[in-house]
Amino acid sequence: MSRSHLPEAPSIHGIWATRWVFILAAVGSAIGLGNIWKFPYITGVYGGGAFVLVYLACVLAIGLPIMVAEILIGRRARAAPIHAMGKLAAESGVSRRWGLLGWMGTLAGFLILSFYSMIAGWAIYYVVLMMKGTFTAADGSVVEGAFNGLLADPYTMLACHSLFMAMTIFIVARGVQRGLEHAVRWMMPALVVLLFVLLGYAMTTGHFMQGVHFMFDVDFSKLTAQAVLVAMGHSFFTLSLGMGAIMAYGAYMSRQQSVGVAALTIGVLDTAFALLAGLAIFPIVFANGLEPAAGPGLMFVTLPLAFGNLPFGVFFGTVFFVLVLIAAWTSAISIAEPFVAWAVEKGMNRLTAASIIGVTSWFLGIFSILSFNWMSGDEYKIFGKTFFDALDFLTTNILLPLGGVLIAVFAGWVMKETKVMKELEMQSQAVYIAWRVAVRIVAPLAIIAVLLGFFGVIGGG
Ligand code: TRP
Repeated sequence: MSRSHLPEAPSIHGIWATRWVFILAAVGSAIGLGNIWKFPYITGVYGGGAFVLVYLACVLAIGLPIMVAEILIGRRARAAPIHAMGKLAAESGVSRRWGLLGWMGTLAGFLILSFYSMIAGWAIYYVVLMMKGTFTAADGSVVEGAFNGLLADPYTMLACHSLFMAMTIFIVARGVQRGLEHAVRWMMPALVVLLFVLLGYAMTTGHFMQGVHFMFDVDFSKLTAQAVLVAMGHSFFTLSLGMGAIMAYGAYMSRQQSVGVAALTIGVLDTAFALLAGLAIFPIVFANGLEPAAGPGLMFVTLPLAFGNLPFGVFFGTVFFVLVLIAAWTSAISIAEPFVAWAVEKGMNRLTAASIIGVTSWFLGIFSILSFNWMSGDEYKIFGKTFFDALDFLTTNILLPLGGVLIAVFAGWVMKETKVMKELEMQSQAVYIAWRVAVRIVAPLAIIAVLLGFFGVIGGG
């Protein structure tokens, strides 16, 4: 069926130039530090196979339906999440207080941006180390020493964090369509090519199958309630869901484009990217006798080690961290966009809005930096976690899933079904029903069960 009978009412921020630009921007948002840095390291910490399986199940049963819901809400309202939720609530005859959900997401974005920028800053530092050839022919202890040295040095971390935040403000201030598009168009494919180069290298280590077994052999005895919560939280983080980033991008999407096909494309590309990153990294970990459960340093220790011992490693290593940086960059702008779009709709100019969110979350990020050095002591811990760990846990594992439940309920129960169907125009009745059941029942119940299970309200370890 043709969608052209629907009017193309643009948002005040404009519309993506083509449907591919929307896909590229959303995939640019989804693929980031979550795929290359976080997924491998949490898979390592939580023991491999069973964790990966739960993550995949969450992407399929919870993530994809909620992504459809976010895009649908954004595109129907053609406004930033705070306004979108309020506007559609009014249209559906319920309280405008649903706008608070937009606020919660925007706040979660502010918190996430603060530590996301710190980690992206590490990638900036590693571009420099790689270029200098620091890791050429280095062994495990040299590489670990370099990473621990960075964590012990708040000034270097602050400089890198500041630079990354400035880069983010710069792009967001220019508007998402301008400038970014060209970069993403060739950078994302380049990132994939590099990943395959690394994957090829992993295959030559003689430990490739050990990596495969680690990631895909399912041992449920390793699965704690915490592991399930982290797997679910990560499915939100990696798909950029639960805080309105994809909703904000959906507001600029053409009505000619199918919401379902777009969500599926984004979900498949993001998941494939994460799995390939894991398959590239774990064989290298095992081949060098390193620990898969190394934690946040996994990518910053194993990859430099690999590149340092690879022909043309200085070149490929430098390019790799540049690309990690770009993947993080295209994600960071999407984390800031809901706030900026809201402020612009309120009449503020983009540069001011981008600066406000950038500078405030830059400031908050200083505490994440200090949680690796000056404030790493027990007296600064919150529920046994450093400031950075606590913030990461609160946002990824609590706020994003909570936002997800409410978004699902909004699209599934609050919005009028006729409006929803008109926006989706799904070709297949079966797919539509599956989505509807997922968004009304499966996703909300599953998320609530996992949250309650973690807090020990219902059974499980
Ligand atoms: N998905 C990105 C990553 O995997 C990070 C990200 C972008 C994000 N936008 C988001 C995370 C919104 C949570 C919410 O690196």
